[in-house]
Amino acid sequence: MAAKSPTDGIITLRPWQPSDAAVIVECVDGDPEITRWLDQVPQPYTLADAEGYIAGIGKEAFAITQDATGMVVGSVGAHMNDTGDVAEIGYWLRRDARGRGATTRALVLIAGWALAREGVARLQLRADTENEPSRRVAERAGFTFEGVLRSAYWNPRLGRRVDWAMYSLLPGEPA
Ligand SMILES: CC(C)(COP(=O)(O)OP(=O)(O)OC[C@H]1O[C@@H](n2cnc3c(N)ncnc32)[C@H](O)[C@@H]1OP(=O)(O)O)[C@@H](O)C(=O)NCCC(=O)NCCS
Repeated sequence: MAAKSPTDGIITLRPWQPSDAAVIVECVDGDPEITRWLDQVPQPYTLADAEGYIAGIGKEAFAITQDATGMVVGSVGAHMNDTGDVAEIGYWLRRDARGRGATTRALVLIAGWALAREGVARLQLRADTENEPSRRVAERAGFTFEGVLRSAYWNPRLGRRVDWAMYSLLPGEPA
């Protein structure tokens, strides 16, 4: 992940730092929505999990920070495929910061950042068809709903197979 910090003056994305481990635990541990929809995020969520995240897949993500307070409120990541042309976007926000458009802003920012990278031809984002807040974020950020990947994934926490709503954004969009 490049060191550049995309911002819109309200939200800034910055690389995760080792000193963020405690705040990640505060955001993620025991959160019912993160537990439900992001089944690969361990629960309970420990300091060691957060340290592993920052040293590992968190390198492909940004901390979402509020300019007014400097607080870390969430994470947004763009995981690149092996050929470097398609990035898969994922995000979560701490509970007490939700519902105020922060993730929509963060998604717009990471989309601009990712599409500016050489060779990137497509951003994609999958949400459980029942995850209404996540789907709203994708739509508000200008992603196109492409359709549903039926029975695409087993979510053990929900105890059911998931239908993915698939969204994408291409260079030059939204029109
Ligand atoms: C998904 C998530 C990141 C959204 O964060 P957020 O900052 O609250 O998102 P925003 O404020 O930008 O937008 C949320 C939208 O969902 C809507 N929404 C919130 N709860 C909703 C609900 N229960 N049903 C329908 N819509 C809902 C809001 O009204 C808003 O839409 P609007 O702008 O049209 O009013 C947050 O809920 C979260 O962390 N969830 C758990 C992790 C997760 O699901 N990650 C995504 C996996 S694909």
